[in-house]
Amino acid sequence: MLIVDANVEKIIELENQIYLLKIHSPEIAGSIKPGQFVNLRVSLSNYPLLRRPFSVCDVEGEFFYIMFNVLGEGTQTLSLKHQGDELDILGPLGHGFNFEGDYETAVIVAGGLGSAPFPYMIRKINKSKKILSFVGGRTFREVITYGMNNILTATDDGSLGFKGNVVQLLDENIELLKKGKVKIFGCGPNAMLRTLSQFSIKNNFECEISTECAMACGFGICQGCPVESSTDDTKYLLVCKDGPVFNVKDIIL
Ligand SMILES: Cc1cc2nc3c(=O)[nH]c(=O)nc-3n(C[C@H](O)[C@H](O)[C@H](O)COP(=O)(O)OP(=O)(O)OC[C@H]3O[C@@H](n4cnc5c(N)ncnc54)[C@H](O)[C@@H]3O)c2cc1C
Ligand code: FES
Repeated sequence: MLIVDANVEKIIELENQIYLLKIHSPEIAGSIKPGQFVNLRVSLSNYPLLRRPFSVCDVEGEFFYIMFNVLGEGTQTLSLKHQGDELDILGPLGHGFNFEGDYETAVIVAGGLGSAPFPYMIRKINKSKKILSFVGGRTFREVITYGMNNILTATDDGSLGFKGNVVQLLDENIELLKKGKVKIFGCGPNAMLRTLSQFSIKNNFECEISTECAMACGFGICQGCPVESSTDDTKYLLVCKDGPVFNVKDIIL
């Protein structure tokens, strides 16, 4: 884990209030893995005081990208950055996706901003494997397909693609999934991840999910990000240190 002074290279507004921030940091870009995250201070002043966690979205040479939407003070401040602005970054943090191994198709399931960690992973997956992406949102505005491959979409209101949630769309395509050996990778709101976990366990699919919660330190000191272990009911795991990516069989959401 490093603490680095990095610089904003570019900020792009992808959609309404959804941004891609390109950051120059050879140290982080050279060491971060898909699914890992950084914890960054959005301002060099003392406000907001706490760092904010963001998944690595992609890496390009000495640069890495994060994708975010404006929620509160921290992301609002971040959205106003310009080329050359300094950022204080802690990373790489946590455990990323285990995307190597013995399967034929990577099935990516993303809800809303849950698309953020996948562009980098998709580029790193061995070319011999197929990729199938299921991307959902409440409306078409929340369906983020940036960097995705072979995309099927779902919206709650039916404004784009399948009408329903993204796990229902997965269920509609279950015969396709059962044709070969698949591994599912999910990221999105906790309610979606809970349903995805139940779906994967019921149908005996290998599945890893990237979980989210409020965080402070980002590396296991404050104990502020517990998640219940499914293998030991006396134990809590930490999202920042043991995750944020977990096998669905290892946690109770
Ligand atoms: C490991 C990890 C990776 C993440 N990766 C990304 C990413 O790639 N892109 C991205 O946009 N966001 C990501 N997040 C969430 C991001 O950290 C929060 O959106 C951000 O901290 C909000 O800061 P803020 O100051 O703008 O909002 P705040 O003022 O802190 O909060 C504004 C509102 O958003 C809610 N909120 C804050 N954090 C979260 C959260 N984690 N989940 C749901 N609601 C929340 C608050 O309860 C509040 O209602 C990630 C979080 C974690 C833990
Ligand atoms: S955020 Fe401090 S222990 Fe996880």
